[in-house]
Amino acid sequence: MTITVCIFDAYGTLFDVAAAARQAATEKGREELAAIWPKLAEDWRRKQLEYTWLRAVMRQHTDFWTVTKDGLDWALENAGLDNPDLRERLLALYWELEAYPEVPAILGRLKAAGLQTAILSNGSPDMLEGAVRSAGIGELLDDTLSVESTGIFKPDASVYRLVTNRFACTPDRVLFTSSNGWDAAAASGFGFRTAWVNRAGQPMDRLPARPHHVLSDLSTIPDLAAQ
Ligand code: LAC
Repeated sequence: MTITVCIFDAYGTLFDVAAAARQAATEKGREELAAIWPKLAEDWRRKQLEYTWLRAVMRQHTDFWTVTKDGLDWALENAGLDNPDLRERLLALYWELEAYPEVPAILGRLKAAGLQTAILSNGSPDMLEGAVRSAGIGELLDDTLSVESTGIFKPDASVYRLVTNRFACTPDRVLFTSSNGWDAAAASGFGFRTAWVNRAGQPMDRLPARPHHVLSDLSTIPDLAAQ
């Protein structure tokens, strides 16, 4: 079946979630971060995601900006960093995360090949708008879909259904790409073709479905979409 729509997860897939802590660590007066920013970034991300899953199970949804702040507060406390100015700076940097270097080129190739492209993310609409604008990739995307219209986070099936509703297609027309193994696995279970961008070389998640492709970066996505 021909792929007609290419969908991308946002955080960790198009945008480098470690960039906020890495950038803050280079700034004057933040020497305390030099040795610990990778652990801080990892704790922040892990707690942010845990809170999305826990809130889904507890049926107590809130937007992704709130769980992003809650995850950061946990990570800062775990690092022994009680520093309101650092907290504000890290949150501000989250609105302008760097895109991975290959992102504009691969989106450009997909558009040149006549494919539709969009983001499907837990991110709240305003966060995603900020990240897309700061990365300068708005012209290369047909849409940015946020879970906020469903009131539950990934990997609830209603989130993946946003794509088939928006593009009026069956799931087998969609190539879904995520750097989160669990997200790619759940999207396979939904019926998408999927690619897991396993930048960190992690083991495969033991979940009911598996990603179809495992990549080390995004560069071969246009080739997969053309298969
Ligand atoms: C997202 C998170 C899961 O963008 O990375 O949806």
